[in-house]
Amino acid sequence: MNRGGQTAQDRDLAPAYRQIERIAQQAARPDEPLSRHTTMRVGGPADLWVKPRTVTSALDVLSFCQRESVPHIVLGKGSNVIVSDSGYRGAVINLAGCFCRYRRLREGVRCGGGLSLSSLVRKLAGDGFSGLEWAVGIPGTVGGAVATNAGAHGAEMSGALKRTVVMTEGEQRVRTGDAIPFSYREAELPGVVLEVELSLEEAPSDRVLETMDRFMDMRKETQPIRERTAGCVFKNPPGDSAGRIIDSMGLKGTTVGGAKVSELHANFIVNSGGATAAGVVALIELIRERVAERTGTQLELEVQLVGDFVR
Ligand code: EPU
Repeated sequence: MNRGGQTAQDRDLAPAYRQIERIAQQAARPDEPLSRHTTMRVGGPADLWVKPRTVTSALDVLSFCQRESVPHIVLGKGSNVIVSDSGYRGAVINLAGCFCRYRRLREGVRCGGGLSLSSLVRKLAGDGFSGLEWAVGIPGTVGGAVATNAGAHGAEMSGALKRTVVMTEGEQRVRTGDAIPFSYREAELPGVVLEVELSLEEAPSDRVLETMDRFMDMRKETQPIRERTAGCVFKNPPGDSAGRIIDSMGLKGTTVGGAKVSELHANFIVNSGGATAAGVVALIELIRERVAERTGTQLELEVQLVGDFVR
């Protein structure tokens, strides 16, 4: 998810929503349940859900929202977020089908931020590029992966990023990878990722595919990839694994409503049916408290919370 807005004040956003719908050249959906657009399958309605029809209209919608300070978020595959049961007061922009280009360069590729990470890794294998095999099986878009500095198996997105084009304050700006402050699962990147250029090494396709298969097998064995989750819930504390710690507390299988600590990997919360965002967050708090009480470690969230949560 690319976060681009601020919280809605007591502002009448109806005129802005009408304008967005006009610019998007596509009927927008009011009160669209975000549970339909997140991998966790929880979340209340967004004021407005919009999927611009063309790249130009998408750029215009983003620019309008940024310039007019209309609260908005860009939701890709909805894979790393938990949306509040009360939903989101603002516009949710879906860029599916926009910014999906892919072009092979001499020492890497250039691709759109809306391309899915899984399509990207498949294309890279086909084109004989190594460097992103670790990303196999991670749901989400390339833009989302850059914005959250996604990673696995000791590598992360920042390692391959040469440059990116972001939409910020209504303008397209180029940032080189080394000018972006990246840290573990974080990128200080104001705005929305439209395009990225990745530095990669050439390698035989069969070798790239072999590595991808190995990583995918590991993922299938250790993570609940077929269930409704938002990925790893907590960041790993330095030198340890949040999953290992939570497991060692005996918390696997703990449930709050339909939200359950995965039996396969304790750093995943599964929507086992009928979970609510409130239930997921209550389970998160229970885990945090238990871990803090017994080990003194304060687990930090890796997933992003969208909307209002009562604390
Ligand atoms: N472990 C347990 N019980 C569990 C889970 C893990 O004992 O329930 C133990 C494992 O046996 C292993 C150690 O903890 O000895 C580490 O586990 P694992 O290899 O699964 O890695 P992780 O540190 O839990 C990290 C990333 C994952 C990434 C994997 C593989 C974070 C928070 N997690 O998990 O990323 O896929 O390594 O590289 O950085 C994500 O970012 O959403 C994510 C899932």
